[in-house]
Amino acid sequence: MTMNLIEVKENVFHLHNGLISYILSVENGGLLAHLYFGKYVNQYHGERHYPRMDRSHSGNLPGATDRLFSKDTLLQEYSGNNTGDNRLPACVIRTANGARTVDFRYVGYQIINGKPNISGLPHAYVENDQEAQTLVVTMRDATIDAKLVLYYTIYRDRPVITRHVELKNESSSSFSIEKIASMQMDLPKQNLDVISLPGSYARERQIERQPLRRGLTQFESQRGSSSHHMNPFVALVAPNTNEFDGEALGVMLVYSGNHQMSLESDQVHQTRLMAGISDYNFDWQLAEGATFAAPEVLMTYTDHGLNGMSQAFHSLLRERVATSKHKLTDRPIVINNWEATYFDFNTAKLKQIIDSAASCNIEMFVLDDGWFGHRDNDKTSLGDWFVNTKKLPGGLEEVADYTHDKGMQFGLWFEPECISEDSDLYRQHPDYVLGVPNRGRTISRDEYVLDFSRPEVVDNIYQQMTKILDHVSVDYIKWDFNRNLTEVFSNTVTPEHEGETTHRYVLGLYSLMEKLTKRYPDILFEGCSGGGGRFDAGIMYYMPQSWPSDNNDPIERLKIQYGTSLAYPISAITAHVGTSPDELLGRYTSMDMRGAVAASGTLGYELDTSKLAKEDTDKIREQVSFYKQHRHLIQYGNFYRLESPFESNHVAWMFVSPDQNEVLLFNFVVLSQIQNDFHLTKLIGLDANKQYTDTESQMQFGGDELMNVGLYDQPIQSSDFSADIRYFIVKNK
Ligand code: DGJ
Repeated sequence: MTMNLIEVKENVFHLHNGLISYILSVENGGLLAHLYFGKYVNQYHGERHYPRMDRSHSGNLPGATDRLFSKDTLLQEYSGNNTGDNRLPACVIRTANGARTVDFRYVGYQIINGKPNISGLPHAYVENDQEAQTLVVTMRDATIDAKLVLYYTIYRDRPVITRHVELKNESSSSFSIEKIASMQMDLPKQNLDVISLPGSYARERQIERQPLRRGLTQFESQRGSSSHHMNPFVALVAPNTNEFDGEALGVMLVYSGNHQMSLESDQVHQTRLMAGISDYNFDWQLAEGATFAAPEVLMTYTDHGLNGMSQAFHSLLRERVATSKHKLTDRPIVINNWEATYFDFNTAKLKQIIDSAASCNIEMFVLDDGWFGHRDNDKTSLGDWFVNTKKLPGGLEEVADYTHDKGMQFGLWFEPECISEDSDLYRQHPDYVLGVPNRGRTISRDEYVLDFSRPEVVDNIYQQMTKILDHVSVDYIKWDFNRNLTEVFSNTVTPEHEGETTHRYVLGLYSLMEKLTKRYPDILFEGCSGGGGRFDAGIMYYMPQSWPSDNNDPIERLKIQYGTSLAYPISAITAHVGTSPDELLGRYTSMDMRGAVAASGTLGYELDTSKLAKEDTDKIREQVSFYKQHRHLIQYGNFYRLESPFESNHVAWMFVSPDQNEVLLFNFVVLSQIQNDFHLTKLIGLDANKQYTDTESQMQFGGDELMNVGLYDQPIQSSDFSADIRYFIVKNK
């Protein structure tokens, strides 16, 4: 008999799976209270209740005589607005009379096997109904006549809870949703640090950690996309949590548009955590009878430190968020022509790159920006997805066939959401662009954004793309997006619906991704947004890998890849060897250093292999062969961060095969030091009882020895920016 994952006893719901427990209850007045999320509790008797106290200035429920119970301090699962809880609301509804009062009360629950899909939005899924159970709690605001449905899914074998909500208008007139969080959880008083992933173009996902103080701490994107600026992810951790030990609660939104993660420490030091679509420029008219589905939140709990949290996200995203048939396949080693040629290429030049890449045993050639319309620079032709026959007289077919004849795969770049003023599409349909009449439009990289909230605009791009993809044999698509949304305004809706445009844009984007990935299931899609401006779980649902940054400098990449790995799996993080000096930074680094950092992700090349000296192409051949040997371990093994580039001159990480028989250890030194200290690395995640052989020195080590006694690094500091890779195997398994 399979274990039941959800127990219900006297209005207390306990979701548990032997790894984690999540407990909520129905409190006085039908309020939904949060009791616990953390390590699995086997013997939960439900005796603990929220303490009662008459607190001044914290009001009581309407009509209540009980002054000991207040919404204002109760730990809740989903708060209303302007009805006695003075903390941040989860939901704000504006009714026709102008009131912004919301008060949801419990109605009932249902338990279902498996996990329901969320129509039109990416989400985690199950492969069979035994994998998870879902608690569906219904609440209602009787005055507005609105039904709120909260979904809680617990997976059987993962320390993961997923949550989302749906709001249905059951009244006879429409109302406006000004805010709708996907989840809320109020935590009892405790000291907490919050970790976020802020950044900028070319400096994405830099780890920041700060203690939570009273007041509001908010991590948000108002850029129309999940953004370089702030990733839709936070971790709440105990102050003593490090990479290896301690409690960590991870929260990730499966969404690629404006997002908001809020943490409010209240007057009695309780912490309200909320995640969802940002309320910035958001105002959704919900017609009578209509339902709004908010995006999903993935929540993990571990007491195995940040590595434990990351590993829970990595396997969930790889196995139950990514839908591509490539989600678990070894990813090809790519050569991309962008930094080799920029816009200045023709068929002959591309063939030279393809020839030289083929001779280095690289597996895929990607033709980046500049193959369409008359795009000789970034001022023109976005929106005109037909081949530039001046550059490529034999069409894309000639390049694709040539690539395939060399035994390589062929990939192609698109930026489907954007449009240049100098384009046929713009000349025919100027109204297809997001913008407010009689107001200038912000131009960014000389491009505008198409109004993807309109199905006919999405369809135009779909038709253009399928025309290419039905005729050219394309194995891979790089989906770029090189600016943010501004002047968000759709030309076809009535004024009261304008506040829906930003979210409808994202829904339009998802509909295009859905149609294309379904129509071309063999194509490997890679997300990109001016580097890593849209690296999120929503994109990962459609595209199992993403370009994390235009910054190929290996020293900067240490941070970008380290930070990205906090939330996202290595198979999803592409990493290319660029030139030295680096194109953006001008830093000189060795081929070995660049190779070691790029081989720590999904490897590729971003340089002109046809112009390299023989010693460099020899090195590339070596790197490619090394990577092919270890690719599966790197892309799908258990990844452990050991030493952080944010804290140390010495950086280390490692990969362990699921059977613990193979280990790859990477050590990096940023700046070399005179009379440096000896550096000891202690490994993690090995089988203590196995014997590991260092394949280079043939020295033997016990698993417990490597994890407890550790290893001195080989002397790798003869110059700045050095790397060392060690490979250990268990010989007699
Ligand atoms: C930004 C991407 O991040 C680059 O890799 C490249 O594709 C350019 N756009 C092309 O315009």
